[in-house]
Amino acid sequence: MLAVYAAAVNRDDPLPGLRIGDRPDPGVPDGWTTVSVRAASLNHHDLWSLRGVGLPEDRLPMILGCDATGVDEEDNEVIVHSIINDPSWHGDETLDPRRSLLSERFQGTFADKVAVPRWNLLPKPAELSFEQASCLPTAWLTAYRMLFTRGAMSPGSTVLVQGSTGGVATALTVLGSAGGIRMWVTGRSEEKRAQALELGADQAFEPGARLPERVDAVMDTTGQATWAHSVRALKPGGKIVISGATTGDAPPAELTRIFFLQLSVIGSTMGTREELERLIRLCVDKGIRPAISTTLPLTEARQGFEAMLRGETAGKIVFTHS
Ligand SMILES: NC(=O)c1ccc[n+]([C@@H]2O[C@H](COP(=O)([O-])OP(=O)(O)OC[C@H]3O[C@@H](n4cnc5c(N)ncnc54)[C@H](OP(=O)(O)O)[C@@H]3O)[C@@H](O)[C@H]2O)c1
Repeated sequence: MLAVYAAAVNRDDPLPGLRIGDRPDPGVPDGWTTVSVRAASLNHHDLWSLRGVGLPEDRLPMILGCDATGVDEEDNEVIVHSIINDPSWHGDETLDPRRSLLSERFQGTFADKVAVPRWNLLPKPAELSFEQASCLPTAWLTAYRMLFTRGAMSPGSTVLVQGSTGGVATALTVLGSAGGIRMWVTGRSEEKRAQALELGADQAFEPGARLPERVDAVMDTTGQATWAHSVRALKPGGKIVISGATTGDAPPAELTRIFFLQLSVIGSTMGTREELERLIRLCVDKGIRPAISTTLPLTEARQGFEAMLRGETAGKIVFTHS
């Protein structure tokens, strides 16, 4: 089958390891099923995999991709929940120490077919296209959990998002606005800041800018480049919810400010199947649709990876199957 896969990993130069070509159909363990993929969205996770983060060389070649929508063996239109748990695990899937995402231990979604446990399939509502729904299981689910579960944000709060046009950043902006939260963002160019305002951000600032007032919470996936600003942006008692460290994970810790102002630093990773169900319902009921910047056939996936590596995002990049 046609697949986009990692044939090699390189911490500093991720793209040479990317291949588009023929791979065997995935194995289907007991209790699993296969989905014929119609759309799959690109995540920064796929670049991390090509850098060897979470993907050691002994697992290569590995088909990339965490997110997918498609048609199951009974012809149902489905959305794939990407977290694969240890079969003995019960409870919040994100807390399973043996969990993995598709493309880490099991072959990913950038292929004609993907194998997943039956439990990981959710019905795709007719209101969302395959392309739109393929944005939900990683970036949008992560944003949902950051804001509403881990961040426990209430309507009327002010939240700063570090970043404006990335997958998680756009999801945070749209979901936060829909939830009645005053959403502020930072964006690295005038164009990116304008895009965030169009998506519903209330104000957009240059990275590191002095804000008109301190905020209740910061949503940060950027890490080292934005950490000091995130800590300084908070009101006493405020919280930073962090789910990524794109620019590095060793910024000065700002410990004094954190204890003196009684700030909370809250980690967040992906989301549960139940949260994904709620996110899907929210999108359907409130007419929310993920922002998609680019749709490419799977054969041209390399263009999408190159754009993400250059930071040329304006929402999600989606690969489709003809
Ligand atoms: N823990 C989890 O479960 C989880 C889930 C999803 C994502 N993540 C992580 O979250 C991060 C974002 O993922 P994504 O898929 O949203 O990636 P993406 O689409 O490539 O977006 C990258 C974001 O980072 C922002 N950014 C700010 N400063 C940056 C800099 N100096 N260099 C590069 N980017 C900078 C960008 O801001 P601009 O808008 O200004 O370009 C953009 O919004 C990744 O590290 C990813 O691994 C973690």
